Amino acid sequence: MKVTQLECLCLILLHLLHTAGSERFEVLGPTDSIVAVAGDDIILPCYLKPNISAEDMTVDWLNLDFLDSRVFRYQNHRIIREDQILFYSGRTSLFEEELWRGNTSLKLTRVQGTDEGHYKCFIQSKSWYDDFTVQVLVKVVGSKPVVSIEGHREGGMGLLCESEGWHPEPELVWLDSKGVNLSAGPPEIDKDYKGFYTVKQHVIVQETDTNHFTCRVQQSRINEKMETEIHLPSELFDYATPLRMAVIVLCCLGAVTVIGLSLAVYCIRNKKDKLTRNLDDLCNQNYELCEHKCK
Ligand SMILES: *[C@@H]1O[C@H](CO)[C@@H](O)[C@H](O)[C@H]1NC(C)=O
Ligand SMILES: *[C@@H]1O[C@H](CO)[C@@H](O)[C@H](O)[C@H]1NC(C)=O
Ligand SMILES: *[C@@H]1O[C@H](CO)[C@@H](O)[C@H](O)[C@H]1NC(C)=O
Repeated sequence: MKVTQLECLCLILLHLLHTAGSERFEVLGPTDSIVAVAGDDIILPCYLKPNISAEDMTVDWLNLDFLDSRVFRYQNHRIIREDQILFYSGRTSLFEEELWRGNTSLKLTRVQGTDEGHYKCFIQSKSWYDDFTVQVLVKVVGSKPVVSIEGHREGGMGLLCESEGWHPEPELVWLDSKGVNLSAGPPEIDKDYKGFYTVKQHVIVQETDTNHFTCRVQQSRINEKMETEIHLPSELFDYATPLRMAVIVLCCLGAVTVIGLSLAVYCIRNKKDKLTRNLDDLCNQNYELCEHKCK
């Protein structure tokens, strides 16, 4: 059978169309998680293998830690902004000039604590789809701990330590000068709307050789720590010892009692003297009256 040139061309075209329609690809990205510093701009890498164009495909970026997980969508050659998680609005983009070579990486600007999570890059052509998930960790070192003296508490000195703006959630521990953990339990922890943590903890310390105490706030996953040391003069503790307190209180009470009693005695005496004097005066002026009354 003889094949004409036209028939041959048609066959080739058909074959091309077929392979184009069922083109398979893989979606790839980094296997290690991405550690982002809060406030920075980051790229979440994602690309097609083979490196065919993604310009005609649908590219979805999803944060799997959210129920309505849309972070970004590219479809029909344009960016779809509907149904996007609110706090990603205006912070996500693709490198559109890179789509033709299968680069569908996401750019995320001004990273915040709540951005931490698992991100899925999901790519769909007319006949195929695949996805890849990358983990993002956000780290930020909080403020240097602020230590304040709260005064005498239960026979010791009350101290408070506070540090804010951490991610991930840090640990807080009070230490004496020998490095012994003085904390009685876990710290109080608060999380703000951007996902950053504030920690604080009260502690009651007793007098030691040095009276040096340290508040340490640390996050071992990101290998960061901040600490503040405080030195308490021992007079603070002297005043606080219960026996001394009792003696001082008793002395005060004693002094008050003595002064009170003396005053009372003085007043009574004073009044009595005055009365007697008044009566004498009266008698001198009015002798007749007193003949009956006074004698
Ligand atoms: C696509 O990949 C091939 C081989 O892996 C490489 O030679 C080529 O430069 C790439 N094309 C683009 C547009 O990156
Ligand atoms: C994709 O494009 C961005 C921006 O130019 C670049 O930083 C990144 O390395 C590219 N990724 C790949 C896999 O080519
Ligand atoms: C310190 O001790 C407290 C109470 O036993 C405990 O909850 C905390 O985890 C300890 N902290 C460290 C860093 O060991």
